[in-house]
Amino acid sequence: MCDVGAVSPLAMGGTQNKCHPERSARRAQSRRISKKKENIMKKNIKKIGVLTSGGDSPGMNAAIRSVVRKAVFEGIEVLGIMEGYEGLINDKCIGMNSRSVSNILSRGGTILKTARSKEFITKEGQKKAVETIEKNEIDALVIIGGNGSFKGAHVLHDTWGITSIGVPGTIDNDLGYTDYTVGAHTSIDTVLDAVDKIRDTVTSMERIYVMEVMGREEPYIAIMAGLAGGAEEVLFPGGVIDLDKIASEIEEGSKKGKKSWILIVSEGVSTSEDITNKLKDKTGYEVRAVTLGHVQRGGAPNAPDRILASRMGAYSIDALIKGHSGAMVSIQGNKLQLVRYDKACYDADRDMKLYEELYSLTKLLAT
Ligand code: F6P
Repeated sequence: MCDVGAVSPLAMGGTQNKCHPERSARRAQSRRISKKKENIMKKNIKKIGVLTSGGDSPGMNAAIRSVVRKAVFEGIEVLGIMEGYEGLINDKCIGMNSRSVSNILSRGGTILKTARSKEFITKEGQKKAVETIEKNEIDALVIIGGNGSFKGAHVLHDTWGITSIGVPGTIDNDLGYTDYTVGAHTSIDTVLDAVDKIRDTVTSMERIYVMEVMGREEPYIAIMAGLAGGAEEVLFPGGVIDLDKIASEIEEGSKKGKKSWILIVSEGVSTSEDITNKLKDKTGYEVRAVTLGHVQRGGAPNAPDRILASRMGAYSIDALIKGHSGAMVSIQGNKLQLVRYDKACYDADRDMKLYEELYSLTKLLAT
């Protein structure tokens, strides 16, 4: 397990020298001690609590299923905590077994429900959450959620000593040191479905459509949907926003016979209404606004999200068994690993170069 700063009681140091007999005996002994420690750690996780927190994402149910079934397989008792940190504060726990997660793999949303808890941000709220954990004799939590959820998990871990592993579930794909989060792929499919449908009417009526997508400050949804949907323009956080330039491109295009445009605007930049009104003023053309909103969070998870959720859920249990805590499961180059909560949340490794490249390609292909 290769980790980005994950907290591990089993970390071993030392350089490798394949030929030296004494060193290799020491390494063998060190491995035996490590294995012993691992066995001791294994006994410590008898009961886990699993919760989903923040905005739901397609694939959260698949992750719950994987966590529950893998834990049961390992002989670990599972409590489901309803409504995220709200449920932790208010002791809303339910016993779960393999049958509790039957037929949820393909369902959007989360059977455990979710919430954005204001109370959990306070010390009082956190204290109540810890009391629930102690009262129910929960040894560790698996927290399925996004940025805000892991900031909370970080506080629980660092300030209150609560053991946990996170599984990233958010459509925004805005966590550090992971290529993907559970739900991101499906939300692009959902946006594309809308883009394709708008394309039918846009070409039939020769209009300009401005489609607003979610994603907070992360360009991911806008950029990926722009490229895959053949958008003529994408306005994304961190990119250059020049409406005069866009207006003159529309004019130029129109002279050459290009009469229909789809512009994707990320909510992190502006609203579709705002951009629509400005472009109407600048071009005099008919411009329509479409805000996709929460449809982007719903629906059955697609294959990549089901696979990712299933892998990450099971991995979170393996990580707990091995004694890890205070970290989120991440995927980098198809390899699962752990990244510390604070690094995943605060240490943005956003690949703006890639986003810029994909944007340029989108523009080139839309000419
Ligand atoms: O984080 C997921 C997300 O859907 C964002 O893309 C969006 O900005 C936000 O949640 C909306 O939050 P809410 O559902 O609380 O309005």
